[in-house]
Amino acid sequence: MEKSLPVKRIHHIEFLVGNALQAAFFYRKALGFDQIAYLGPETGYPDCASYVLQQGRIRFVFSTPLHHEDPRNVFLLLHGDSVKDICFEVDDVEEIYQESIRRGAPSARKPFKMHDENGTIRKAAIRTYGDVIHSFVSLQEYDGPFLPGYRDELRKGIDVGFTRIDHVVANAEDRQMDRWCDYYKYVFGFHQFVSYDDKDISTEFTALRSKVMANDRRNIKFPINEPASGKRKSQIQEYIDFNYSAGVQHIALYTPDILTTVSNLRDNGVRFLNIPDTYYQTVWDRVGKIKEDRELIRKFNILVDRDENGYLLQIFTKPVQDRPTLFLEVIQRAGCESFGKGNFKALFESIELEQRNRGNL
Ligand code: FE2
Repeated sequence: MEKSLPVKRIHHIEFLVGNALQAAFFYRKALGFDQIAYLGPETGYPDCASYVLQQGRIRFVFSTPLHHEDPRNVFLLLHGDSVKDICFEVDDVEEIYQESIRRGAPSARKPFKMHDENGTIRKAAIRTYGDVIHSFVSLQEYDGPFLPGYRDELRKGIDVGFTRIDHVVANAEDRQMDRWCDYYKYVFGFHQFVSYDDKDISTEFTALRSKVMANDRRNIKFPINEPASGKRKSQIQEYIDFNYSAGVQHIALYTPDILTTVSNLRDNGVRFLNIPDTYYQTVWDRVGKIKEDRELIRKFNILVDRDENGYLLQIFTKPVQDRPTLFLEVIQRAGCESFGKGNFKALFESIELEQRNRGNL
């Protein structure tokens, strides 16, 4: 077993999108992020516009190439608006990059430096599933708003209570889940935190398998799904068909107060998956006593699950772009470290209803 690569935390997640100006507006107005920094022609970068959004310790970057000949357009053509980079903050970029290459990771970008009046950063990147990359960034010699080239540009959102990223989920192609679990095991030294087979995650029609990889500190958790065969097309296969390849399926954002967060998000117009009322007829027998108001949980369509350590509350948005690809999860934990196994059936039936409405089931 390889020693863990010393990645400290997810520094940011970068999305390539067709219209970063409007994506930033959506994440600010609907999801409560502050826009904190901007890079573009006005800051000396004529080829790209990038907006940095922050809430709690979560940072999302939305980038759009500005010219037709930009190679990043190929990514957009294939995947649509999609996650391009899950960037880790590290101390020593050179060492981590070389070690990850030695362990078999394909390079995306060799180590390089960037600087502006706020200092210097070091960065490098390796490839992972689909066209997604992991970049490594070290910021010890930098004290600016985000990264070199970005200028301060504060446009406040109205915070809805998100504090950190809880987990980032990949959808892998058919029978590729174990390959990508091995990648995180051998390149990053992550361990398998939990695994769900198609008996855990199946409905009458479709199925999937999932394993969760995590670092030693468990502040980075990457579930990886793959389609499993069922009577109809797996929702994971629908994702793959629309995203062209493996990619990020959902990002779970943590809140310490899901009722307030979801109430605000609903007021802002964020659309969530509907859960049938029958779910709430049996859920309390399964999960027992919780602190939150049961009526509000039902009213907001929040899902509840329990394991031996406690319980969790979670809810899933509808896709956040027109392709049925990326969506977001809102999660609150009370001791429970797992992923809502007891909700899989209700959740996947709800996703299938949407899939059916799109004509893909
Ligand atoms: Fe999740």
